[in-house]
Amino acid sequence: VRVKPKDLRLMALLAPVKEQLERMREVLAEELRGDSPAVADMTDHLGRFKGKQLRGAVVLLAGQATGNMSDEHATVAAIVELIHLATLVHDDVLDGADVRRRVACVHARWDNQVAVLLGDLLYSRAFGRSTELSSRLCSQVLSATTRDLCAGEIDQAASRYHFEMSLPEYERIAGAKTAGLYAAAAELGASYPGGTAEARSLMRAYGWEMGLAFQIVDDCLDLMGDKQTVGKSVGTDVEDGKVTLPVLHVYGEADEATRAAIRDVYTRAGLAERAVALRGTCDLTAGIERALLRARALVESARGRLASFPTSPARAALDRVGDYVLERKW
Ligand code: FPP
Ligand code: MG
Repeated sequence: VRVKPKDLRLMALLAPVKEQLERMREVLAEELRGDSPAVADMTDHLGRFKGKQLRGAVVLLAGQATGNMSDEHATVAAIVELIHLATLVHDDVLDGADVRRRVACVHARWDNQVAVLLGDLLYSRAFGRSTELSSRLCSQVLSATTRDLCAGEIDQAASRYHFEMSLPEYERIAGAKTAGLYAAAAELGASYPGGTAEARSLMRAYGWEMGLAFQIVDDCLDLMGDKQTVGKSVGTDVEDGKVTLPVLHVYGEADEATRAAIRDVYTRAGLAERAVALRGTCDLTAGIERALLRARALVESARGRLASFPTSPARAALDRVGDYVLERKW
């Protein structure tokens, strides 16, 4: 497999926790061992392309930056990645996506039935691992996070075609579905199993803001990116009736004729490639620019949270995660 420059950039970014990252990957590989030949077929498929593993890395970097790194951090990081993986397998069923991490989605290669069950299986594996830890904190934080994540997904589905959604409501939903797991990752890194209340709350805020910025960039990539570069299906938001931040901005500023045209692209029966059609219907650049302005402000605020920790390679890496989140193309 050709190593792309962007992967090298990520590897450099994660260098301070290289060893613990390896350990995290070992734990993940153990948990991706199949329970049966049919399961192994699917978990092998998932194990082939590991994604960015940024959430797991944040657990480790937050642990290192707060001077709180323990033997259990790699396991906590693997649990976070397993939950993320479970949600992606389910999310691709919900979104009708066909490519994820540059390979076929589980439901596309097999079917919806086994994909739903595999997501549940991965979630159970994460749950099982967390019972082996010395404290209940990981289970507590991640069960609350997963609950919010599911509620966020339900609220998102209930808000389809809602072109007049308020910006706080958009951020609440994007926060629940994505920022929450980043917040939990950073919080657990800072507090597993010890750490001060202040470090925990600062890291939680850092993770939330970084995660929200990550989702805003994700929404821009879904609208403007191409499948090849992004490595996953794009255009699914428009396809599913999700009105994301850049579209909310464009719709909010548009005249009535343009608004009607936008609604038509979202809803006209049988229309193919709705995101492409949307790009042809209105100028999305101002909406994208405004959305990215918000993402940049969130990243700046997240960086500010790091100021009270002593300088270290891990703190510098958490700072640089911001550039990566904003500049990523996949
Ligand atoms: C990605 O959003 C989706 C999520 C981060 C959360 C999905 C969560 C669920 C479906 C609940 C599953 C729950 C359990 C317990 C397994 P996106 O579709 O905007 O991003 P994408 O472009 O990466 O698909
Ligand atoms: Mg999706």
